[in-house]
Amino acid sequence: MKKLVIANWKSNKSLSQAEEWLANLKTDQVDLNIVTPVIAPAYPFLAPLSPTVTKLGWQLAAQNISPFPSGSYTGAVSNHNLKDLAIKYVIVGHSERRKYFNETDQLVSQKIDQALELGATPIICVDENTLASQAAAMASEVMDRCMVVYEPVGSIGNGNNASLADVQQFKAKVSQLFGPIPFLYGGSVDEQNVGEYLLETDGVLVGTASLVAAQFINLLQAAQGVSPADL
Ligand code: PGA
Repeated sequence: MKKLVIANWKSNKSLSQAEEWLANLKTDQVDLNIVTPVIAPAYPFLAPLSPTVTKLGWQLAAQNISPFPSGSYTGAVSNHNLKDLAIKYVIVGHSERRKYFNETDQLVSQKIDQALELGATPIICVDENTLASQAAAMASEVMDRCMVVYEPVGSIGNGNNASLADVQQFKAKVSQLFGPIPFLYGGSVDEQNVGEYLLETDGVLVGTASLVAAQFINLLQAAQGVSPADL
């Protein structure tokens, strides 16, 4: 499997900033035989960015999905709304959604079902506190269609990235509970540390270091095995 490097923009950027980010990318420096870059913009930018992202050979992810199908759910974005946009992945269960939007394991499980209905792969964010309960809230036949990201809350957005030993330990627990599904890490990933995480994982979820196009390209190059010192 190629290494997934997912840019999780969260609630950052206006449409013009998102378009400028893409226009500034030096994409000739990205080797798509080694990495698959994925952009996860805010909902309103999925449609306008989709043609450009697809043309680059990159992938698109949604940061969220409604736990309900299409219908009378005002304000929710259903799997049906997201069709036709070439969305390959849906991020679910991020700690920010669990904390600020009170999302439970059960709700995340419903979102996983809706992401699968869309034909996308759910990327489930968990940490030490949510791994076992999230697994318990899911049907086992659903698990092998998902990916799991280890996102320790104390490592998000603060430069306090997890040790490789912690990532290895967590990976072992994930494979016990979920089986041999793709495993990713997220939490203060940058161009300096991405290489070591990719030794142990199938990819990384990148917040802060994905917000500036040039920095994200540096990170992709580091992910391809180019030392940041050579950039
Ligand atoms: P960070 O965010 O890279 O800023 O730590 C990661 C995430 O929340 O997915």
